[in-house]
Amino acid sequence: METSVNRPSQATPQGSNEGGQNVLDTTAISETVNKVMGHFDPTKHLNLAASKKIDVEHLDFWYGSKQALYDVGIPLLEKQVTALIGPSGCGKSTFLRTLNRMNDLIPHTRTEGEARFGDINVYDGSTDVVALRQRIGMVFQRPNPFPKSIFENVAYGLRVQGKSNKVIKETVEESLHSAALWDEVKDRLNASALGLSGGQQQRLCIARALAVHPEVLLMDEPASALDPIATLKIEELITELAKDYTIVIVTHNMQQAARVSQFTGFFLSGKLIEYATTVELFEHPKRKETEDYVSGRFG
Ligand SMILES: Nc1ncnc2c1ncn2[C@@H]1O[C@H](COP(=O)(O)OP(=O)(O)OP(=O)(O)O)[C@@H](O)[C@H]1O
Ligand SMILES: [Mg+2]
Repeated sequence: METSVNRPSQATPQGSNEGGQNVLDTTAISETVNKVMGHFDPTKHLNLAASKKIDVEHLDFWYGSKQALYDVGIPLLEKQVTALIGPSGCGKSTFLRTLNRMNDLIPHTRTEGEARFGDINVYDGSTDVVALRQRIGMVFQRPNPFPKSIFENVAYGLRVQGKSNKVIKETVEESLHSAALWDEVKDRLNASALGLSGGQQQRLCIARALAVHPEVLLMDEPASALDPIATLKIEELITELAKDYTIVIVTHNMQQAARVSQFTGFFLSGKLIEYATTVELFEHPKRKETEDYVSGRFG
């Protein structure tokens, strides 16, 4: 059974350099990027020396008696975008939900292993889950605004935290700016969020997640329900947000992974098969399964 994971030594500050594999040929990468990815350049924000914001090791996960994740190990680097790709049912969403313990809401689930996040292990029974979800926010596939006004959607978490009206007003505006939505909604903050377009609703959900000042943002196919223009806006936003946040994004769209992420993990049947810089994983995959997937031979 193959459970070994190609954890990238080049992603660690003290990384080794076996066989010269980890030396990045930036000229070759730039040429590839220009050819394959047009004006997006995922290497622009690549920081091989970034520290590990969350370090997952030996993660196993079960739905009842059915194991869905096997010995997953992956570092999620600070202020970098990590994309998770793989065929339907391979465990991408399950993995993402382990990171802020959203799977706890599903009965009869069990998690084992470690996800170091600062000085806590996310998977410890004693971890304060409410505080954790404030530090690790989440955006879902379908925009899910509350049936409330635009303002109240973003204010929600701040009201739960008991913030003053002044702080709430300032933070709502700041969050809408950060989510690149302010200009479109500033004149109708009291209108229902349900009247926004799908792409606007998704940016509103991002603003709602940002309002409580998380450190990490988990995004599960955040653009899959959107048209190409709205998708592009979300991708630009992700690139912008990665200056301040650590982002983990699940996507079925390999071009999207290539456009927005610096690192990519490829999952298959509950296992992390390969993890590398996005350019390496797409252009020089080390595992045959990865090569087959990224070249479109299955999935
Ligand atoms: N709530 C659940 N109860 C039981 N099994 C589940 C549950 N959610 C997911 N699974 C199973 O766990 C496995 C991984 O599912 P998951 O949703 O994580 O895959 P995914 O990679 O996100 O797929 P997709 O690309 O289709 O979203 C699948 O076999 C799925 O059937
Ligand atoms: Mg999924």
